[in-house]
Amino acid sequence: MTTSIRTKTDPLDSTDPQVLDYMLVPHRNFNLINGVHSPDEVDQIQNWDIRDSDIFAVTYPKSGTIWMQQILTLIEAKGDVTSNTEHLNAQRVPWIELIGSEKEFNATPSPRLRVTHLQYKFMPLAIRQKRGKVIYVARNPKDVLVSYYHFHKYAAMLETPKDFNDFFKKFMEGKVFGNCWFEHIKTWYANRDNMNFLYITYEEMIKDLHSMVERMCRFLGKDLTEEQMASVVEHSTFRTMKQNPQANYKTVPDSLLDHNKGTFMRKGTIGDWKNHFTVAQSERFDSVFQEKMRDLPLSFAWDINDVT
Ligand code: PPS
Repeated sequence: MTTSIRTKTDPLDSTDPQVLDYMLVPHRNFNLINGVHSPDEVDQIQNWDIRDSDIFAVTYPKSGTIWMQQILTLIEAKGDVTSNTEHLNAQRVPWIELIGSEKEFNATPSPRLRVTHLQYKFMPLAIRQKRGKVIYVARNPKDVLVSYYHFHKYAAMLETPKDFNDFFKKFMEGKVFGNCWFEHIKTWYANRDNMNFLYITYEEMIKDLHSMVERMCRFLGKDLTEEQMASVVEHSTFRTMKQNPQANYKTVPDSLLDHNKGTFMRKGTIGDWKNHFTVAQSERFDSVFQEKMRDLPLSFAWDINDVT
């Protein structure tokens, strides 16, 4: 892969048909994507001025980011889906790590809703003084791996895997954007008491989205009527979001996401890993999981039947 300089601040705004070359660039033991992130700008995030009203949804990739973008936007709009129909979810609730984010962050009126895949160490230091609020969404990592594998096959900014086993190894070694799944969750969770922090899982959201939206509203101090709440939930289901052009990336050019090779709103379920993992891969994964998660009081649903 060759390197390239990106001139646009928002990759999703690109109408440029030119295919850019991207590559992972290690920075402070974390892989950034050349052309999408700038190490210097990522380092500046620590110094950002944070307001109490700022809300950050934190995810390891493929754990429900777009889902949170949808839910947070709708909670803020009290369920009014007509409030912002011009922009993609990713533009309504942008990533803080993208090139050009700081300027846009400073210029945004409150409340500022943001997402990030970054590890804890890169975050604005002010969140450690309990400024702003953080919602961490975790997903069972076998399904994360499978979702990420499919995403790598059609996202131009990520290297196409040779096959599933090739990607399995890269994921286990943390040689992907987001790095090691275990380290991501461990470092965030270990620091939970330093922040205004809510931990939820993708699987809980699949099981009972209404209760989870209620929990988020309580945490965020948002008071929605039952009707408004029902609207948030209705417009955040997989079925509705799959058909909503703002809630997926259908309008993004093929030079970034090759829509012939995949779809963002792919399966949206629990347990698809069973259709991909061999027994040996599953056993290897389980042993790493048990070892790395030993000290964390966290458990996951691994099958759709576990939540129904
Ligand atoms: S990214 O690229 O990191 O921003 O991807 P991310 O949005 O975190 O994750 C994409 C996966 O989340 C699924 N998804 C949903 N599942 C259930 N319900 C809803 N509403 C929903 N919205 C997004 C999406 O389908 C991807 O998972 P897979 O397993 O690939 O289907």
